Amino acid sequence: MHLVTLIPGDGIGPEITQSVVDIFAAAQVPVQWDTHNAGETALAESGSLLPQGLYDSLERTKVGLKGPVTTPIGKGFKSVNITLRQKYDLYQNVRPAQTTPGIKTRFEGIDLVLFRENTEGLYAGLEMYDERLGIADSISRITVEGCRKICRAAFAYASKHGRKHVTMAHKGNILKNAGKLMLDAAKAAAAEFPEVTFYDDRIIDNMCMQLVGKPEQFDVIVTTNLFGDILSDLCAGLVGGLGVVSGANIGDDMAIFEAVHGSAPDIAGQGKANPTALLRSALMMLEHLGEKEHAARIEKALNETFLQKEQCTGDLGGKASTKEFTQFIIDKL
Ligand code: NAI
Ligand code: MG
Repeated sequence: MHLVTLIPGDGIGPEITQSVVDIFAAAQVPVQWDTHNAGETALAESGSLLPQGLYDSLERTKVGLKGPVTTPIGKGFKSVNITLRQKYDLYQNVRPAQTTPGIKTRFEGIDLVLFRENTEGLYAGLEMYDERLGIADSISRITVEGCRKICRAAFAYASKHGRKHVTMAHKGNILKNAGKLMLDAAKAAAAEFPEVTFYDDRIIDNMCMQLVGKPEQFDVIVTTNLFGDILSDLCAGLVGGLGVVSGANIGDDMAIFEAVHGSAPDIAGQGKANPTALLRSALMMLEHLGEKEHAARIEKALNETFLQKEQCTGDLGGKASTKEFTQFIIDKL
């Protein structure tokens, strides 16, 4: 039995985490949940966006499944996600995007995995505002070690999963120093993993254009924090939207799995949310825990569900509620 910290989160978070809990129970997955909240719900309950009990749980279990959380803006709070990623050095944000039969997209044959650096860059938290001068500084700081770790992680993943091609996206033509750090780190990683036969790099703006023009040419992509944040939503748009793309925040001794999307306040509490993104994140978690067979069985039921549009949620053109979609998956297990 694996003990996992479950963070239901805000907005649609509780609806989609319940869906995963129900599917795991029906599939008799050997996971036991230790539930702790974070974000606005936690703030209302306990006066803290990140209660101590959640930290204690994560430090015990080393694995988390997290719903999206809302960080109140303009009230001086630091983002919950950034705090967790930095505190536990979850330096890899791994975000796969693939086309799936039954999910309508403009392209076919997309099967890529994005590696976003997760603790540095513009998200390092180096922010200053001089009210008198009317100047805001948001400093983007990256380190040789941070670049080395994320590039190495992308190539190690490619090597392990038999993927041959890694593309590094950067803005080295303008950001001379930061660009050079990433280029040097990617070249060093390419030399360390010669079985990944094809390495290239693209300037980020060109990368966006190529992704929306010919996305099937990409395999593994590695990039810094802000570019990765933007590229991952772009990739979500290529394969069916934010409702279907999963993610993992991975460090050397802890991992927190979560969807790419946020708390979707526009549809919260209405039974409209697609739980697929969180479910797929939970399946990544099962692989991480060595439970490949359970993951494969649930994935099969999920993929069969997509084949009939009326079984899908509204974002995929169907009419099913979150609960009905969940039940269709359970029926197929
Ligand atoms: P969002 O990702 O919550 O929503 C963007 C659009 O996608 C909305 O129209 C929403 O209805 C739709 N959508 C998202 N997930 C969906 C799902 N599972 N099924 C169907 N439709 C879905 O982004 P937004 O509106 O920019 O942010 C809302 C809040 O979420 C903010 O407070 C933000 O800070 C937070 N956020 C939290 C994240 C996290 O906890 N990992 C990540 C991104 C945003
Ligand atoms: Mg994002």
